[in-house]
Amino acid sequence: MATLKAVRGTRDLLPSETALWNRVEATARAVFARYGFGEIRTPIFEDTSLFARGVGEETDIVSKEMYTWEDRARADSGGTERGGAQSLTLRPENTAGVVRAYIEHKLADTGMLQKLFYIGPQFRRERPQRGRYRQFWQIGAEVLGPPWSGSDSALRDAEVLEMLATFLNELGVKGWRLEVNSVGSSTDRPRYIAALREALTPVKHRMTADNQRRAETNPLRVLDSKAPEDQAIIDGLPRIADFLDDASRDHFAQVLAALDACGVAYTVNPRLVRGLDYYTRTTFEFTVPDGSGLGTQNALLGGGRYDGLSEMLGGPKSPGIGFAIGEDRLILTLQAQAGEIAAAERKLDAFVAPMGVAQNAAALALAQELRRAGLSVELGDGSFRLKKSFESADKLARRIVIVGEDEVRSGILTVKDFSAGEQTKVARADLADALRG
Ligand code: HAM
Repeated sequence: MATLKAVRGTRDLLPSETALWNRVEATARAVFARYGFGEIRTPIFEDTSLFARGVGEETDIVSKEMYTWEDRARADSGGTERGGAQSLTLRPENTAGVVRAYIEHKLADTGMLQKLFYIGPQFRRERPQRGRYRQFWQIGAEVLGPPWSGSDSALRDAEVLEMLATFLNELGVKGWRLEVNSVGSSTDRPRYIAALREALTPVKHRMTADNQRRAETNPLRVLDSKAPEDQAIIDGLPRIADFLDDASRDHFAQVLAALDACGVAYTVNPRLVRGLDYYTRTTFEFTVPDGSGLGTQNALLGGGRYDGLSEMLGGPKSPGIGFAIGEDRLILTLQAQAGEIAAAERKLDAFVAPMGVAQNAAALALAQELRRAGLSVELGDGSFRLKKSFESADKLARRIVIVGEDEVRSGILTVKDFSAGEQTKVARADLADALRG
């Protein structure tokens, strides 16, 4: 029988790796809490129309990468379940879901700015390669609210970017770069897209097939094409900066001034448009240098403003800004930058070794006592030979605690410290303290 394997584009994360994942997530939670964010958990699947309307029908994500199925009413529900089949989709990103929840729970009615973060898997049927998976994790956040909550202020954009810089620095990511751009308001964008279409008409036949198609369906996407043979044409296309109205230009200038004020370095990249339809005004990406373990995928994270998304989904006017960090990519970067991951698994405080099966129960009771005292403990087994107990203990823990017949009777335990090579006798009442040292 053929052995079963994880599906292409998905993978298992074993404890040797999850230690680093947990450190990254704990750092995100700690940093985001300092900026007033609370966690939101939305479902992993949603109505397909949420993504069609929110992310955009013409985007690569919606047009070819979603895992979508017809969810039929249950045959055994006796016809009580209403409606026929419903089209459902595994979420390819989480912004649309968060804004749906914001609308559904009437969070706008609080009148307060909502600062929400999430950590979880997303699904896109992309061609798997290093740093690109079909199930991947994002750590993301969204800041949104009614206009009177200050949600459209440039200050929010700068605060989010400063938070991301702090997060990456606290994790020790080296050499990151922040690229920013403004893609204009919902009125600037159509004017710019029209100008792009016009400029592309006489030249598009000289472009790669992909860009010819994009020139028709989604001309903005031509700008972030990496096809080398199209770069000369792309460089000659009109720039969004020349199409921003006064308010958008002013907003972008305020974002940059606030970044300058808090010393966050950035580069303005006029071609940064990003692949989702909801963006307005500020867009950004953080990248890491080649050789950081990501292969050709060097965008660690991306995001931007989406001032019209709530209304596109039938909600009240609620400007917003957010980002999503590719957690898989962040981990690959940290691993590559650290060289070999410094043995991520910290050793346990103690290995409790019963010397015979008769001491198993006493050993469990001792382990329970030590774990209650906050120590990390592994338990051997009375069937192990002494040599095996010592070998296992040396691999897993800093010390071994021997539980033989004498120890159980006297309440004086034998403890060996592996790094010091010392063996001592410790009274049970002092044991937890001794193991902590
Ligand atoms: P996105 O640029 O599609 O934006 O994804 C954000 C990040 O997720 C990317 O920069 C990348 O690091 C990671 N990522 C995307 N696809 C994959 C993949 N197949 N494998 C591994 N990592 C991947 C969004 O998703 C927006 N919702 C971000 C946002 C939040 N904008 C506003 N708020």
